Amino acid sequence: MTHILSAVAWPYANGPRHIGHVAGFGIPSDVFSRYMRMCGHNVLMVSGTDEHGTPILVAAEAEGVTPRELANKNNRLIVEDLCQLGLSYDLFTRTTTGNHYAVVRSMFEVVRDNGYMKVQTTRGAISPSTGRTLPDRYIEGICPICGAEGARGDQCDTCGNQLDPTDLIKPRSKINGETPKFIETEHYFLDLPALADALTKWLDDREANGNWRPNVIKFSKNFLKDIKPRAMTRDIDWGIPIPGWEDQPKRLYVWFDAVVGYLSASIEWARRFGSTPEDWRQWWNDPEALSYYFMGKDNIVFHSQIWPAELLGYNGEGDFGGEPGDMGRLNLPTEVVSSEFLTMEGKKFASSRGIVIYVRDMLSRYQVDALRYFISAAGPENQDADFTWGEFVRRTNGELVAAWGNLVNRTASMIAKRFGEIPAAGDLEAVDQELLDMVDAGFGTVGSMIESHHQKAAIAEVMRLVGEANRYVAVTEPFKLKDESERERLGTILHVLAQVVSDLNLMMSPFLPTSANAIDRVLGGEGRIAPMPRIEEVVDLDVKNEDGSERAYPVITGDYTGAPTWERHPVTVGQKVEKPTPVFEKLDESVVDEEIARYADLLNK
Ligand code: MF3
Ligand code: ZN
Repeated sequence: MTHILSAVAWPYANGPRHIGHVAGFGIPSDVFSRYMRMCGHNVLMVSGTDEHGTPILVAAEAEGVTPRELANKNNRLIVEDLCQLGLSYDLFTRTTTGNHYAVVRSMFEVVRDNGYMKVQTTRGAISPSTGRTLPDRYIEGICPICGAEGARGDQCDTCGNQLDPTDLIKPRSKINGETPKFIETEHYFLDLPALADALTKWLDDREANGNWRPNVIKFSKNFLKDIKPRAMTRDIDWGIPIPGWEDQPKRLYVWFDAVVGYLSASIEWARRFGSTPEDWRQWWNDPEALSYYFMGKDNIVFHSQIWPAELLGYNGEGDFGGEPGDMGRLNLPTEVVSSEFLTMEGKKFASSRGIVIYVRDMLSRYQVDALRYFISAAGPENQDADFTWGEFVRRTNGELVAAWGNLVNRTASMIAKRFGEIPAAGDLEAVDQELLDMVDAGFGTVGSMIESHHQKAAIAEVMRLVGEANRYVAVTEPFKLKDESERERLGTILHVLAQVVSDLNLMMSPFLPTSANAIDRVLGGEGRIAPMPRIEEVVDLDVKNEDGSERAYPVITGDYTGAPTWERHPVTVGQKVEKPTPVFEKLDESVVDEEIARYADLLNK
């Protein structure tokens, strides 16, 4: 049994989340965590909402509320959505907790005192009216290279060139239209060059001994080529105050804020739900513990460079040496599991333009596992993937309903009608044993695919076995065995089918937890094979609101110890089986046109 940390990217709380977000890291991290728990490992799955920074400020201003009010609202929406998706977080929290502030600040102090932070002066763009930093992507102007209007401070989308905001002709703020002012400003920089050798050693070791996706390791190693110090602070007034600079209008940047959340959330979990408040150390200090970080490709640098460098700095493992702080030597990531992007009908999701499918809307109209199935089978695991309504309907009807749902349904119907309970098996014929062996072997093949982050191949393999079971029904024709003399043979076939449905349902359970429980009930079980998360209302452990009231917020947590182990569990002969109602809903073809009509104008642009 190993301690496994599932570290899931922290979604921004600037608005509700769309299915692109959950496709990249939400579902894959849940599948992995559920599987690892079934293998008997001690999994800690943590994340939370990322509530600081310019995106939140901009959204708050647009809505006329304070950033904290906006964060509170979106935190709750996101918590509800992720819980409804069945994501089995041990703790899903937020970056505005007293605990997170304290962990971040103490980590910063140790990295700084070990010598890996240096103060440097930079030229930064600020908004003259608010005094806040204007991030590169919030400045636009005319491209100095191709002359296109609407080039951004980081890049021109027309000609594709990388830009600096100072290059833009007639620069203006996208937030309020004013001309940005470029000022000299002091910031803390993480001394990445002093950590580069240690980073290289770590990446080499991970390349040799890990299961990293080749594109991720290549991408990460590329960054090492021109590694330079990176600013960890910004001119802004919403965020975590910088140790020693508390009275300045500067705050820690997301690179030294949300990313530390994996650690702070583990600590908050131990303080709230652990057997001791020090429980988190089993995932962070034990050198045998493993950690897997799940994210979209825009976050690779974050997790394969910035975060490990901060951990090395904290541990005192860079060129200047040093000592770890009170949290002890902290483990670096075992694997950075990055996905690609999901587009919709060939277009990039763009909330600002309305080209978006919110998780909430999707779940209000379709079964949660129809979405989870689509993402698992057709998501952006190794390459960009496209969500189309046509494909969603095709996969739901053609695969989930017609193959898997139908196998479950015909098995349970025949058992209910002919026996009313799971019958005992008589002598097995070769065809029975072959199917049983083939499906049993699935635990090994499907399991190792999930373990090595090939989830698409894993669910495809389960579906292949579903196909084999359906073929078995076609070959053995149990529906034709009506004579009393054939009753024993019928019982054997239905017993075999009950067993393989039960096996396949366990293999499906990390992907489709809600329906796995429903299918377990169809077979007469209690429907608790896939433990589900819950929302718990808590109050901040360390700080109160300014008016002295408790600072309350919802977290996602759960007791996930009840799942069966990842292996065949013989079905119980005599277990009652009633006439089933179908677990999966077939979608009407008209769904495609209806849904596309919602976005049609936008998609044609
Ligand atoms: N909220 C940020 C983003 O979506 C960062 C997420 S990853 C974290 O890009 F590690 F920083 F939390
Ligand atoms: Zn250009």
